[in-house]
Amino acid sequence: MRLSYSKCGIGSFGLELKSLGRCNNCSEEALVNIRYSKKKLCPECFSEFFVRRVRKTVEEFRMFKPGERVVVAVSGGKDSVALLHALKKAFPEVDILSFYINLGIKYYSDHLQEKVGELAEKLRVPLEVYDLRSEGYTIDDFLMTKYKHKMCSICGTIKRNIFTRMAVKVEANALATGHNLDDTVSTMLSLFFNGDFESIKRLKPVINPLLPKHPRKIKPLITTPEIEDLYYVYLNKLPVGECDCPYGEITPIKDVKAILDKLEDKQPDVKFRLLSVFRKKLIPLIVDNREKGEEVLSCKICGMPSSSEICSKCRKVEELINLKRTAKYESIEIDDVKELGGDVVLLDVRTKEEFLISTLPGAINIPLEELEKRLAELKPYKKTHKILVFCNTGRISYSATLKMRNLGFRAYNLRGGLGLAGKASSLRKE
Ligand code: AMP
Ligand code: FES
Ligand code: ZN
Repeated sequence: MRLSYSKCGIGSFGLELKSLGRCNNCSEEALVNIRYSKKKLCPECFSEFFVRRVRKTVEEFRMFKPGERVVVAVSGGKDSVALLHALKKAFPEVDILSFYINLGIKYYSDHLQEKVGELAEKLRVPLEVYDLRSEGYTIDDFLMTKYKHKMCSICGTIKRNIFTRMAVKVEANALATGHNLDDTVSTMLSLFFNGDFESIKRLKPVINPLLPKHPRKIKPLITTPEIEDLYYVYLNKLPVGECDCPYGEITPIKDVKAILDKLEDKQPDVKFRLLSVFRKKLIPLIVDNREKGEEVLSCKICGMPSSSEICSKCRKVEELINLKRTAKYESIEIDDVKELGGDVVLLDVRTKEEFLISTLPGAINIPLEELEKRLAELKPYKKTHKILVFCNTGRISYSATLKMRNLGFRAYNLRGGLGLAGKASSLRKE
């Protein structure tokens, strides 16, 4: 059985689930190797093992109790999809709701919304969708701002704010997210390297609310290795997003994740040990600002917890909306090269085979997956040229355009790609 694995920040690769002989629990064929506990399990026993651990984690850390309402933030990625399914299995009697935030990341957010809709319907869990466009902006808009190099961080600030607002609205006692063991330990390590101990506190399995009637934040997958979320989703045939966030690959956390994966080869339980050391030894040493007497206010605009009158999310969104109102909006997509003016490089990000069959006159070819590796070829144009990126449909070139903007290029996507008849002639450039 072959799985395509899209690991956040590290890209995609295939995984083969081969027969491992007999399952250690029953007589079926084992497909999953749980190295840290020396077990080989068949799909059914693996799913039971997975759900049992989620139940145990919820109970051990007292994440919620019977009679409480739990809202699950589902992004459509493998972690939160596995989380919603496993929570429903582990606690069939608990009142569980789900919600999705459409971040307006083109070609990505709408696709994930569809998958989350399918999942909620399959599991018969109520789903609420919040669309950032209802507030007049999208995450992509932040590419126009000084935060363009910190897209994931700004997106995180916005998501956390909306998670809490939505949970308060439905009067949930607990708000669950799909943060897994690998996310938690790699984030802890990179915060540690940066000396940002205050933020390490946020990575606890349970964070108590800062304001009355607010939910506690819980991470029922904190003891689940990332790869097992993938096995669970595929072995249970759950709907899951098939593309990565275009901003994902730029985060430095991928290096830390890769180091941990390497360590794990020789020490299969290293991630669990690190989690335990951070949780039991380091976090208790970190002084909470609230213990220092720092007041928690509620933001004057959105009412969410804040250390000043206006919270960080509302300040950043206000900055963005003002910019959109006053500055000339540098659109990310264009219909025609004539809109650009000046010197333009045509960049074909399709495969080499497609490029060799036909392309636009004068275009250079760097397939999307080679873009980071071959950036040096584009560097000479960084200051002097605009870059028009295209593919067949405008979809993968959009992702390439976002990446290039992030890296400081003046890149534009050709809306609709080469598929639109007549486009090629208007693109002919001397
Ligand atoms: P991330 O910060 O993207 O790694 O996501 C961490 C967790 O936040 C996910 O496992 C989900 O539980 C939740 N989450 C992320 N993005 C969304 C979204 N667009 N809508 C709802 N929940 C989300
Ligand atoms: Fe927020 Fe990728 S989902 S930056
Ligand atoms: Zn606010």
